[in-house]
Amino acid sequence: MHTILLTGGAGFIGSHLTRLFVRKYPQYKIVNLDKLTYAGNLENLRDIENEPNYHFVKGDITNLELLRKLFAEHRFTAVLHCAAESHVDRSITDPLAFITTNVLGTAALLQTAKESWTGNMENKVFYHISTDEVYGSLGETGFFTEETAYDPRSPYSASKASSDHMVRAFYHTYKLPVKISNCSNNYGPYHFPEKLIPLCIHNIISNKPLPIYGKGENVRDWLYVEDHVKAIDVVFHTGKLAKPIILAGTMSGQILIW
Ligand SMILES: NC(=O)c1ccc[n+]([C@@H]2O[C@H](COP(=O)([O-])OP(=O)(O)OC[C@H]3O[C@@H](n4cnc5c(N)ncnc54)[C@H](O)[C@@H]3O)[C@@H](O)[C@H]2O)c1
Repeated sequence: MHTILLTGGAGFIGSHLTRLFVRKYPQYKIVNLDKLTYAGNLENLRDIENEPNYHFVKGDITNLELLRKLFAEHRFTAVLHCAAESHVDRSITDPLAFITTNVLGTAALLQTAKESWTGNMENKVFYHISTDEVYGSLGETGFFTEETAYDPRSPYSASKASSDHMVRAFYHTYKLPVKISNCSNNYGPYHFPEKLIPLCIHNIISNKPLPIYGKGENVRDWLYVEDHVKAIDVVFHTGKLAKPIILAGTMSGQILIW
């Protein structure tokens, strides 16, 4: 039984995660906190917005006062943290927005969870959704493992790497029960049109050139978003504390969790 603060639930991955948890766990209460930036769209959640175990709050994860009020009101037992500035190209033009939301916002959530759970950490979960971009770039071959050294290359990945470190620091310093997964690129329904796959599909339909980086030789791993949120469900309920896990696509379309 959980009362969950789910951040960024109106975004791409967050909306799939919200839908899965609201439908699969009617006994849980899900409070979706989302600022509704350009990337957030409540249309993504129309089909579940009237479910009795779902509640939406418009607000900013950097707002400590709001977070404390929500924790006091709902007595959350878990946080599923998806809210982020997530587009690499935007991080190059406006890095401070990424540091504000991804680093300070995550720190504000950690601090509020710590304040609320200190003295009773049992059965609590703070789940941080991160990216495999914290590991940098691969050459022509190879793959990342959970032991790969962090080597972020953009303001986006550096801000996510910072937030990962802060999440782990709260585990080691305060024993906050954290879980982290680092996923590869997601694709699927409700993907914002600026991202590569929907942009390419849109350009093909409109007979426009495709925006491929460099010589088109870069390799990306793609994970179907509904597979990803099923994996998050498994890690949330059975994953080990503070043991990061990479969630990536496989040739067979399966996700491996170990
Ligand atoms: N999409 C991917 O391929 C991918 C890959 C790896 C990791 N991730 C990570 O997964 C998470 C979700 O990614 P996504 O693609 O769904 O992102 P998204 O950009 O589609 O959605 C982000 C959501 O967060 C909300 N938000 C932004 N700033 C906020 C703030 N300050 N306060 C409250 N809400 C705020 C937005 O309104 C939006 O609804 C992110 O942490 C991202 O780093 C995404």
